Amino acid sequence: MARILTGIQSTGLPHLGNILGAIIPAITLSNNPKNESLFFIADLHSLTTIKDPVLLRNNTYSIAAAWLSFGFDTKQNIFYRQSDVTEVCELSWILSCLTPYPMLANAHSFKDKANNLSDVNTGLFTYPVLMASDILCYDADFVPVGKDQKQHLEITRDIAGSLNHLFGDVLVLPEAKIDEKVMLIPGTDGQKMSKSYNNTIDIFLPEKNLRKQIMNIKTDSTPLEEPKNFNNCIVYKLYSLLASQQEIDIMQGNYKSGNYGYGHAKQELFELIINNFSDQREKYNNLMNDLGYLDNELIKGADKAKNIAQSVLKRVRKKVGY
Ligand code: ADP
Ligand code: TRP
Repeated sequence: MARILTGIQSTGLPHLGNILGAIIPAITLSNNPKNESLFFIADLHSLTTIKDPVLLRNNTYSIAAAWLSFGFDTKQNIFYRQSDVTEVCELSWILSCLTPYPMLANAHSFKDKANNLSDVNTGLFTYPVLMASDILCYDADFVPVGKDQKQHLEITRDIAGSLNHLFGDVLVLPEAKIDEKVMLIPGTDGQKMSKSYNNTIDIFLPEKNLRKQIMNIKTDSTPLEEPKNFNNCIVYKLYSLLASQQEIDIMQGNYKSGNYGYGHAKQELFELIINNFSDQREKYNNLMNDLGYLDNELIKGADKAKNIAQSVLKRVRKKVGY
C-alpha cells in the first residue's frame, strides 16, 4: 500500500488548468485500491498571501466543493483542511531547527515571490518547512505535484535526511511524482493558464460570466470568410482537449473551409464546457449551498489525518528528546 499525499492552496476558484492538470489525475491515482490518498487544502499556506478572513474561508469551501464534485471518494481516502491538524505546526518548528538558513534563502519560489509581492512576510520564507511538515507528518511515500514544486520536495527530503541522520531513522523519505507529460493548459492569452496571469477559464462560474471569459480568448485577425489555421488557435487547443475525435474533425473542417469565425468556435467551446461539466457544475453549486456538509466532510477527514499525524509526531518528539 503506497501513501499518496498532496496539498492544494486555497487561493481562488479552481480553473480548467487546475482541473485537467491536477484534480482529475490525482483522483485517478486515488481510485487505485493499492493507494491510500491524503489530499488537503493548504489554508495555512494561503495565509502567506490572503489576509481577508471571509475570502480565506470561502476559498477553502470552493476548493473542497471542486474536489468532491469531480468524485473524490472521502470514504476510501482522507480529505482535510491543513489548519485543522495543528500537529503539523509543531513538527514544522522542529524541522525548522534542522533547516539551514541559506537553503530557504536560495529557494527559487521564495526569491520569485520576494521580487514580485509587496507583502514579503516570514511565512513566505519558511513556506517550504511547513510544506515539508505537511508531507513528513503523514509518512507519505509519493507526492504528486507540478514541476514548480520540485525544489520544495528536494528540501523536504534534505530536512528529513538531516533529522534521520542526527536522531536515527524516524521519518519516511518521500518521492515527488512529477508527470513530465502533464499538459500545460493554455490560458485565454496563450500563456500557461494561471490565477496569477488573470487568464483563467473558471468552469464553475455562472454561465454568463463563463461565456464572457471564453469570448475573451485571444485570436488573430483573419477575416471571417477566410480559412484559418487551427494549430495556432487557443480556442481550438482548448476545444481539442475536451472534445471527442469526431467533434475535433468537424471543427478542423470548419477552420479549413472558411466562413467560420472565431466567435462561432468560441460559442462551441462554451457549449462543450457547459455540457461536459454539467454534472460537476450542478454538484459544485449544491455543495456550495450546503457548507455544513462540506464542514462535516472536512472535519471527519481531519480526525483521520490527526490520528496519523499524532503518531508520527510522538515518534519525532521522543527521538529529539522531549
Ligand atoms: P495557479 O498557477 O493558477 O496559481 P496553482 O499553482 O495553485 O495554480 O496550481 C495547482 C495545481 O494545478 C498544481 O498541481 C499545478 O501543477 C496545476 N496547474 C496549474 N495551472 C495549470 C495549467 N495551466 N496546466 C496544467 N496544470 C496546471
Ligand atoms: N506548495 C504547494 C503549491 O503551491 C501546495 C502544498 C502545500 C503542497 N503543502 C503541500 C503540495 C504538501 C504537496 C504536498 O502547489
